[in-house]
Amino acid sequence: MDVMGYIESRRDAHLNELIELLKIPSVSTLSEHKPDVEKAARWVADKLRGAFQTVEIIATTGHPLVYAESAQIPVKPTVLFYGHYDVQPAEPLELWTSPAFEPTVRGGNLYGRGTADDKGQIHIHMAAFDALQKTLGKLPINVKVLIEGEEETGSEALWAFVKNSKEKLRADALVVSDTSMLAPGVPSVTYGLRGLNYYQIEITGPAQDLHSGVFGGAVPNPLTILCELFAKLHDKNFRVTIPGFYDDVAKLSKKERKALNSLPWTAKDFKKTVGAPALCGEKGFSIVEQVWCRPTFELNGIWGGYTGEGAKTVIPSKAWAKFSTRLVPDQNAEKIAKQVEKYIRKLLPRTVQCTKFEVLSTGKAWVAPFTHPFFEAAHHALEHGFGKRAVFIREGGSIPFVTEMHDTFHVPCILMGFGLPDENAHAPDEHISLENYFGGIKAAAEFYQDLAKL
Ligand code: BES
Ligand code: MN
Ligand code: MN
Repeated sequence: MDVMGYIESRRDAHLNELIELLKIPSVSTLSEHKPDVEKAARWVADKLRGAFQTVEIIATTGHPLVYAESAQIPVKPTVLFYGHYDVQPAEPLELWTSPAFEPTVRGGNLYGRGTADDKGQIHIHMAAFDALQKTLGKLPINVKVLIEGEEETGSEALWAFVKNSKEKLRADALVVSDTSMLAPGVPSVTYGLRGLNYYQIEITGPAQDLHSGVFGGAVPNPLTILCELFAKLHDKNFRVTIPGFYDDVAKLSKKERKALNSLPWTAKDFKKTVGAPALCGEKGFSIVEQVWCRPTFELNGIWGGYTGEGAKTVIPSKAWAKFSTRLVPDQNAEKIAKQVEKYIRKLLPRTVQCTKFEVLSTGKAWVAPFTHPFFEAAHHALEHGFGKRAVFIREGGSIPFVTEMHDTFHVPCILMGFGLPDENAHAPDEHISLENYFGGIKAAAEFYQDLAKL
């Protein structure tokens, strides 16, 4: 049987295998799920053993890495495939139509946490490797695989491994499927991602919680103060007010601006996906530019005081917030972190103390040319899987490892995403389109075969 015939015949088997992986709640940020994260690593490693000569589970200071290498074919190119087997928390659970870790097919989609981000997408490649191995007797090129377990928490433990394993990771290209297609039926290659810095703050006012009737009116309220603080971080044009924030932002070339704004994309679909009464964004830029090419400041969580049932009249002693900045070329992540901290400390009034200011992770943006012959192979493969020529897009999300690999090895990074913008990654009812999943397996198998011909 040829490769594509084999893939076609294995549709149900592949889907059932993916469902097994999706049932493991490998939530990397929650320590109670550590055993599940380890179970998912073992599951991925065991499946890779079919097509790879060596498969290792590498312990780190955080969650384990899965690393595999195919049998060496000296004259053929080497690619490193990267992805992540960890997922975001599934909460709020009550908003899922079917339970997050009980994968369910509905209306041409597979629902469950990790379907799109990123278990479904790593499984696309695992299925392609399996098909190539079974039908050709071996993989047609040299493949190294690195699948990590803490992408969703900033890949912190990965950096020590990368530093000490440069030879191991050396490849002619990086291949990743952890992004989205521009729209259904529009295969896409992503050539740019934003970077991400993540922060957490704790401020303290009164030495302990106070009765708001007895003390209210004369004492600082840390929650109100955080609200005032964050209200000052954007101006009326939705520009971030942190001094120097835009200093190093690279201007889009006329050519790129034109190309990005003429992609087959509609504001109507975007608004429908968002579902808010109206949009807002930095003045002077199109939506595509706002989400792919401009830096932002976002408040991700704010808490303190009483949030339980009914009423409790309290002035809290402390208030907390989590927030982040998305970064674009040529912003320097460390420099931005300093500017953010300096301005926030400056804005805080004397009535409270900043008892903690943490930078949880930093990461700069990645944008790279797409001229290498490998991109032509990607084009051809995506056309094979989806019957249409791919477009080149940038995206607003972040994958720290892509930036790191590109800076270390200066190799082409081929991001072929099979998700869709409305598939609810990180949210309830996350799903992947079965058409993209099955088309993705064919495209991936074709891609690795095409690389063998270069
Ligand atoms: N797969 C996403 C990144 C992504 C999403 C890229 C959509 C392009 C389009 C990844 O799993 C992710 O969620 N990354 C985090 C960053 C990380 C450092 C926590 C993100 O972008 O928030
Ligand atoms: Mn992801
Ligand atoms: Mn994610």
